[in-house]
Amino acid sequence: MKTIDKPEVSFDEFDEIHHPRPAETDFDRVAEKFLSRRGFLKGSALLGASALALGTGAFGMREAQAAAGANGLAFEPVAASTDDAIAVPKGFKADVLVRWGDPLWTQGVDFDHASRGTGATQALAFGDNTDGMETFTTADGRTILAINNEYTNRAIIYGNRDSKRPETADDVMKGKAAHGVSVIEVAEQGGRWGVVVDSPYNRRITADTPVELTGPAAGHDLLKTAFDPTGTRSLGTWNNCGSGKTPWGTYLTCEENFNGYFSSSEAVQDQKPIALPEGFSRYGIGPKDWGYGWAMADERFDIAKHPNEPHRAGYIVEIDPLDPTSTPKKHTALGRFKHENAELVVADNGQVVVYLGDDERGEFLYRYVSNGKYAEGGNTDDLLVDGKLYVAKFSEDGKGEWIALTPESTGMDEALIRIHTRQAGSAVGATTMDRPEWVAANPMMAEVYCCLTNNKNRGVKPNAGGDETPAFGPNPRAKNNYGQIVRWRPAGGDHTAAGFDWDLFVMAGNPTVHNDAYAGTGNVTADNMFNSPDGLRFDSQGGLWIQTDGNYSNAKDFAGMGNNQMLFADPESGQIRRFLVGPKECEITGLTWSPDRKTMFVGIQHPGEKGGSHWPEGGDAVPRSAIVAITRADGGPVG
Ligand code: FEO
Ligand code: CA
Ligand code: CA
Repeated sequence: MKTIDKPEVSFDEFDEIHHPRPAETDFDRVAEKFLSRRGFLKGSALLGASALALGTGAFGMREAQAAAGANGLAFEPVAASTDDAIAVPKGFKADVLVRWGDPLWTQGVDFDHASRGTGATQALAFGDNTDGMETFTTADGRTILAINNEYTNRAIIYGNRDSKRPETADDVMKGKAAHGVSVIEVAEQGGRWGVVVDSPYNRRITADTPVELTGPAAGHDLLKTAFDPTGTRSLGTWNNCGSGKTPWGTYLTCEENFNGYFSSSEAVQDQKPIALPEGFSRYGIGPKDWGYGWAMADERFDIAKHPNEPHRAGYIVEIDPLDPTSTPKKHTALGRFKHENAELVVADNGQVVVYLGDDERGEFLYRYVSNGKYAEGGNTDDLLVDGKLYVAKFSEDGKGEWIALTPESTGMDEALIRIHTRQAGSAVGATTMDRPEWVAANPMMAEVYCCLTNNKNRGVKPNAGGDETPAFGPNPRAKNNYGQIVRWRPAGGDHTAAGFDWDLFVMAGNPTVHNDAYAGTGNVTADNMFNSPDGLRFDSQGGLWIQTDGNYSNAKDFAGMGNNQMLFADPESGQIRRFLVGPKECEITGLTWSPDRKTMFVGIQHPGEKGGSHWPEGGDAVPRSAIVAITRADGGPVG
């Protein structure tokens, strides 16, 4: 989900007016620190702001990666574009696989551009605003995609209403049914991928699907409601952002901006501020929703009547996509915050490690470590139920530490740590980050990357918990409108270790507009500029794919960047090349591959969110979020 900051003057102009630059910029100092502390590129006195040239940062040569054979996907980079179309390199093609509103069963109906569907038709159709996704394979070789449907653009889904808002109970039902997760069987025929309509695996999980709560917070008083006095059963999942996959074949979906759906009837009646329960303000839960109107037809979303309902959202949810009758599980052990994705690795000793970002300005980066160990074919029931939660603390010297969130370190009990996780992170002095989005673990070595998408508040104001946000460490730029990618290597190559080394893989920027820290690192050029890295995935060959959700104005600070895009990065050389540009006003998010790696599935979210796109159908069609299948003309692998 996006946040775009548009100052009236350009950021550069504003910054120059208010903060004249010293001869040596902050970025020079950051660059110098990277270089001197590691001793690589020793002796060069000439390395100023371009010292991180090629962006290999402090980690330098990548022997392990090189030995494994760095990804060699060959393509001619595509130019930035503001067209209402998808651009991919010559020799590749992008076909639409499935769009918001496409029916998954024959009793559904084709999308109606006039009404934009009803509650009943949406319940039988692919959800809106596709996000994280993963590929699964059945025992008999069928290909199943589990796909998040993060949210809806109210002006689009309710574009049939003058108010551009939900007006009836059925409008709300349509909105709730457009959220959640779509599980679909897909198949290729004659070189085109399509949905297998009526597949027994097709399933919609929405804001009304029964869900089981597990882990240390399950059954806690704060999770008990009128609808579930036990605090162990919840209804639905919504605002499902990034994804994850377990080695035992389940899908992880991550609840992000869950707060935007709650409102208070008391506030509406009284027209005055209401007292909010403890912890609500830290999570942005307040008297008004973001226009979804769910409380109008479902009182679970009325915090005046059911103040514990918001405590039951903001978790990682596990789904078995190959068992359509299975009950999804919300795992409180992995904490409650605005979860971006869930990057799972199995440590050498078998413990399950999940890296987790909290996408909010000045919030934290987390790690979960299971108490039990994974063994193929073994019992996996407790691996996401019983474990420890840690939060990252970075030092300026390129070192970092995972701080355990325990009753001793936080002064909170095990359940409260999982319900008010942000407050637990604050209690141990975690590092405030520039909006951690996707985390991706390098399959070739013990190394992990995280997109820090942007943060206009960096160096300006504290987070919602009052933690200061100085320009520091992996978040070195004040008023950071471009974002960066941090990476770390766990001590001893052990994902369960307390310590790690970190550096910055890339700082996005605009070298055609700036000649300081806001120009970006040396691996950012006029030909590959982007802002707001968000989606992040490694392919099977160790190539790193970066998806953006940023400012697409193509003007001022963002001149020359065009629409949102997907880029390919080589972790070894630091080189970044643009692979794909999306249609107008979209973000690119969600990436997975067919089992034979010959097709790449890429998500196009919120095209035309400001009314400027008719993709993919063109003409005067309603813009529709969709997944595209990208293949090579020569039939070769694409990652
Ligand atoms: Fe749903 Fe932080 O992106
Ligand atoms: Ca984003
Ligand atoms: Ca995102």
